[in-house]
Amino acid sequence: MGLVSGACFAEMGNKVTCVDIDEKKIDKLNNGIIPIFEPGLEAMVIRNLKNKNIFFTTDLANAIEDSQIVFIAVGTPMGDDGSADLQYVLAVAKSIGESMTKELVVVDKSTVPIGTADKVRETIQNELDKRQLQINFHVVSNPEFLKEGAAIDDFMKPDRVVIGADTKFAFEVMKQLYSPFFRTHDRFITMDIRSAEMTKYAANAMLATKISFMNEIANICEHVGADANQVRIGIGSDKRIGYHFIYPGVGYGGACFPKDIKALQKVAEAHHYQPKIIKAVEEVNNSQKLMIAQKIVKRFGEDLTGFTFGLWGLAFKPGTDDMREAPAIYIVKELEKRGAEVNAYDPKAIEESKKFYLKDAKNIKYCNSKYEVLQNADALILLTEWKEFRSPDFEEIKAQLKSPIIFDGRNQYNAFNLENNGFEYYQIGKK
Ligand SMILES: NC(=O)c1ccc[n+]([C@@H]2O[C@H](COP(=O)([O-])OP(=O)(O)OC[C@H]3O[C@@H](n4cnc5c(N)ncnc54)[C@H](O)[C@@H]3O)[C@@H](O)[C@H]2O)c1
Repeated sequence: MGLVSGACFAEMGNKVTCVDIDEKKIDKLNNGIIPIFEPGLEAMVIRNLKNKNIFFTTDLANAIEDSQIVFIAVGTPMGDDGSADLQYVLAVAKSIGESMTKELVVVDKSTVPIGTADKVRETIQNELDKRQLQINFHVVSNPEFLKEGAAIDDFMKPDRVVIGADTKFAFEVMKQLYSPFFRTHDRFITMDIRSAEMTKYAANAMLATKISFMNEIANICEHVGADANQVRIGIGSDKRIGYHFIYPGVGYGGACFPKDIKALQKVAEAHHYQPKIIKAVEEVNNSQKLMIAQKIVKRFGEDLTGFTFGLWGLAFKPGTDDMREAPAIYIVKELEKRGAEVNAYDPKAIEESKKFYLKDAKNIKYCNSKYEVLQNADALILLTEWKEFRSPDFEEIKAQLKSPIIFDGRNQYNAFNLENNGFEYYQIGKK
């Protein structure tokens, strides 16, 4: 998120210095090598490196010397008890307090629990007190709503920019920075800091709720003999409901929804409120991740020893190599636990899978193409909606698979029309 934000601010002509404690990442970036896959990001970073609008360093003190605004965009992963772990945010706040020499606007862009801005302010002030300095600074909450896979587009053309602040100066500086991103009319939404922090959690909780709600409907559809995809179209046509985020599937994953849903629960509990809907959203999602595995067990039996499955898609969604909390992790582990072998292919996420998320999986073999995974496989499983999986060669699939069986966990707008095609085709929300 930080890299995308920095690159987009630089693209608008600002001078941006991106700071990270990871020296290898900074070395790579200084050489134009981008550590993640995100469409359009590489070209944008290289262009701005050449224009000298973007710089990469591990030296925070140096970076903030000439800056008017500092964004905190570090991770806020799930801590041991489920709350957001603020150690990285507060470490940055401490470094800012240790090194700032003039008035600064400090912006929380990371997704943080309500009240974090106060902690950031306190941490910076403590450091200034230790240095016996009186420097004015402003803390702002500016949550980020970009989507991985479309991050550049979302950042360059935002639906809205939420700014939570408590000084006129901070609002003005932020508006000046973001104004170039609006071409016809501004889309600023200004509010108090806590409401801005809450807005981000509420937005993610609402989206996750839509997903889990539809997955629950899909599960009921399977029991009562209805088709969840037809139901989706039926309800989406109601403007109050809409078509977005009501696709039945293998559940949400990624770096944001799972941790933010949990963090919101924890924040509520810390303030003596027991959330009910949000808890249920998480529970539905946890069981949803294994729905495809359950269908496989129903078809092939509890013990999957001797069976091989071809898998298309490891990333938690298309357009990214991100596998954080990807349903694929849970499905592969479940199949492996039951003795199955998996041949996997993903256009971008294979390295991530090998290095981190499925590094301990012994029964997985990575393939160079989507058709290679089918060799000697008993069935094909589809998990990510990459474009290259939308119109495959079904004759090739049939020729390679031991028997023509497909388990499709993708959103059903992309479902195959396999009627009368000789395939056994299993989807979420359809018996
Ligand atoms: N990924 C998204 O699509 C997205 C969208 C909106 C909001 N967010 C939020 O943005 C935040 C960051 O998410 P991310 O996915 O970019 O995380 P990330 O883990 O990919 O990146 C965080 C970076 O911060 C660096 N870092 C850690 N401590 C540091 C320090 N003290 N000084 C400098 N750098 C430090 C890490 O080395 C890492 O490179 C999270 O709060 C997330 O919820 C992410």
